[in-house]
Amino acid sequence: MTSRVDGPLKVTGQAEYGADHTFPGLVHGYVVLSTIAHGEIEAMDVTAAKGAPGVIGVYSPFDPLELRTPSTAFMGETWVPLQDKEVAYYGQPIGFVVAETYEQARDAAMLVEVSYRSRPALTSLQDGLASAEDAPAARDGSPSTLAVLAPDVESIEDALAASSVVVEATYTTATQNHAAMEPHSAVAVWGPDGLTIHSGNQASDLQAAELADALGTKPSEVHAVNPFVGGAFGGKGRTSTPAFLAAAAARVLDRPVKAALSREQVFTATAGRAATVQKVALGADHDGTLNALRHDSWCSTAADRSFVEPTSHGTSREWYATRNLGISQKIVPLNIPPTTFMRAPGEAPGSFALESAIDELAVALGMDPIELRQRNNSNAPPGKDLQWSSKHLDECFRVGAARFGWSDRLPQGRTDGDWLVGIGTATAMFPALRFPATVEITLLPDDTAIVATSGADPGTGLLTVLSLVGGESLDISPDRVVPRLGDSTLPPGGMSGGSTATASAGTAIMVAAAKAIDDLLKLASSPGAPFEGMDVSYADGQVLAEGRTMSFGELLRTLNRPSISVTGSSAPGEELTKHSFSSFGAQFCEVRVHKWTREIRVSRMLGVFDAGRIINPTAARSQIVGGMIWGVSAALHEGLEIEANGRFANGDFASYLIPVNADIPEVDVHFVEYPDTLHNSVGAKGLGEIGTVGMAAAIANAVHNATGIRVRHIPIQIEDLL
Ligand code: MOS
Repeated sequence: MTSRVDGPLKVTGQAEYGADHTFPGLVHGYVVLSTIAHGEIEAMDVTAAKGAPGVIGVYSPFDPLELRTPSTAFMGETWVPLQDKEVAYYGQPIGFVVAETYEQARDAAMLVEVSYRSRPALTSLQDGLASAEDAPAARDGSPSTLAVLAPDVESIEDALAASSVVVEATYTTATQNHAAMEPHSAVAVWGPDGLTIHSGNQASDLQAAELADALGTKPSEVHAVNPFVGGAFGGKGRTSTPAFLAAAAARVLDRPVKAALSREQVFTATAGRAATVQKVALGADHDGTLNALRHDSWCSTAADRSFVEPTSHGTSREWYATRNLGISQKIVPLNIPPTTFMRAPGEAPGSFALESAIDELAVALGMDPIELRQRNNSNAPPGKDLQWSSKHLDECFRVGAARFGWSDRLPQGRTDGDWLVGIGTATAMFPALRFPATVEITLLPDDTAIVATSGADPGTGLLTVLSLVGGESLDISPDRVVPRLGDSTLPPGGMSGGSTATASAGTAIMVAAAKAIDDLLKLASSPGAPFEGMDVSYADGQVLAEGRTMSFGELLRTLNRPSISVTGSSAPGEELTKHSFSSFGAQFCEVRVHKWTREIRVSRMLGVFDAGRIINPTAARSQIVGGMIWGVSAALHEGLEIEANGRFANGDFASYLIPVNADIPEVDVHFVEYPDTLHNSVGAKGLGEIGTVGMAAAIANAVHNATGIRVRHIPIQIEDLL
C-alpha cells in the first residue's frame, strides 16, 4: 500500500481544511493592511467602517485585540498583530474588521481611513547593501563568519591567491512567497474548555502552545486541530495572523470567528523567502582539487525582524572537501514583509550560487563538471571530525549520468533546428535531521491499531507514513493501522519541517510498537490469560507459544480488555556525537533555448537521490518532483518585484509567475537506497526539501552549455539571453 490514506477524502472534497469549518453564529474577519512601507500610524478613522452593514467589531492598534508578545519565540519570532503603531513594510496587518458575512467585513475594511507619518523606506537589496557591512549576523546563534584554514595558511585570501585557477563571481536570487494552495486562515471557537482553533499549520501542538502564550491562557485551554493542511513549505510554521486575530476576536465577541487572507494578502501578511546576494570565489589546482572556497552572503530581512536565509552556511559550509573555507553571512534590514523558512532555506538559493560557481570552475579548468564534483567529494564536512554516516553522492552522479546520457554532452552544447540545446548538472544536499517526537499506539480488539501523534501532514504524506511504519513495526498490514495526526491533544509530534517528520515520528513509532508488543506479551502470559506462564513470542500480529497462536485482537476480546495503549518517544541523541548526517542528490536537466526568440524551455529533468530508506516510493517521488519543479520555478519564473514604495508589483497569481504543466517535461526521479540506521532506526534521512536544491543551478548551467551565456541571477529571463 503506497496510496495516501487521506487521498480519497482530499480528491472528493471531503477533507475539511481550517476555513471549511463553520459553526452556528459564525462571523467573519477581514484583515486591513498598511499602504506605506515605513512610518507610524497617526490615526485610524473607523467611524464609517463601524457604521457599515453587518459590522460587529473593528480593531486597530488604537483599539487592539488582547494579544501579548509570546514569552517564547516560535520559529525565531514573537511578533503579534495590532500591538503597535509602527509600520515596517507595505502590506503589514494593521486592522481587523469583523462582520456577519465575509463580504460585509471586506467592504467595511475598505472604509477604514488610515493616516500615516511616513518615513523614508529602504526596499531594495542593492541599496541596502551599501550599509550592509555593519549588518547584524543571524540571531539564531550561528556565527556570521567562519573560517577553516589549513595549518600553514593565514587567510582565505592567501589561499585563493595561492590557487592555480580562481573563479570569482556574484550571484543573486529573488524574493519568493510560499504561495501554498490553502491561504492562511483560521476558524476560532471558544467554549467552556477554552479555545478550539482550526487552522492549517505545520505543528498542531506548537500552534496551541504559541496561541496560549499570546492569549495568556493555559496551554490546556487551547485545542489546535489541523488534520489537513493545504501546503506549508515553512510558511505555516508559526501561528498565522488570521489565527491570532480570529482567536482574540472570538474571545471578546463570544462568537466563532473565521478569518482568511485573500491570495494577494498572503504575499505580504505572511512571510516569504529572502532575496540574496552571494559572492563566491573558488581556487583550485589544475587537477581540479579545490584549495579554497569563499562564500559571502547577504540576504534581505524585514526591518523589524532578524531571520537569515543561511545560504553560505547551508551550502559551502559542508558540501565540498576543501582545505580552506571562508564563509560569511549578513542580513540587510529592509522595509519588506518578513522573511522566514521556505523549502530548503539556505540550500535552495545557496546552491544556485555555489553550484553555478562549480560549473564556472569546471569551464575554467576544461574539466567535466561531474568529474570536478567527484574529485572534491567530502568524507566529512570541512573542519569537522565527524564523517558522513552514509554518503552515496558518487553513485547518484554515476547512475544519473548513465540514465541521462551525460556522456553525449558537448562542451558547447548542440543545436536542433532553431533550438540551442544544453545540459547541466548540480549537486543537491540537505542535512538529515530529526526532532523529538512522541507517538501513542493503541491496540484494539478488532485487530486494528491506532498510531497517533499531534504533528501535521502539510501534504507531504506523513499520515500515510504513520500507517506504513506502524504496520511494519507491529508486523501487521498497514491497512489495519488507523493513523491520527493534526490535533494538539495527541502526544507531541513536533514540527513537519526541516525534512524531519518521517525520521522523527517513525523512530517514535518503532519505540512505541516495541512497548505495545511487550505489554501484549505480558498480558498474554499473565495469570488467567490464554498463554499463562508460557514463553510467548509475537509475529504477524499474533501471540504465539507452544504451537498455539492468537491475534492481539482475539486476546483482547478473550480477556475483555478494551485496548492496550502505550506511548513511545524518541529524540536525537548520541548519534550526533558520532557522525555527520545529510541527504544527497545529483540533479540533471536539459534546456532548449530558441535561437531567435531566446525562449527557454526545460525539456528533460532527472534527479537521483540518496535519502536513506524510502518508506513510501510514491509519496517520496511526489515530494522530489514537487521540489524539482520548484527549482524550475526559481530558475525561470518566480520572483517578487518590489516597487520603490515597498509594494510588491506582482503579489498575486495573475502576475507572480509559476510553472504550468506546459513548462514542465516528464520528471525522472531515482533513488539509490541505503537505509541510514546510524541516523535513526527507521533509516530514512529526509527528502522533503532536497528535491529543489541544486535544480536552479543545473538549469543555469544547462543554459550556459546551450548558449555560452552565464546568467548569475535567478529568475533567468529572455532578455538575459539576447
Ligand atoms: Mo520547511 S522550510 O522545513 O517547513
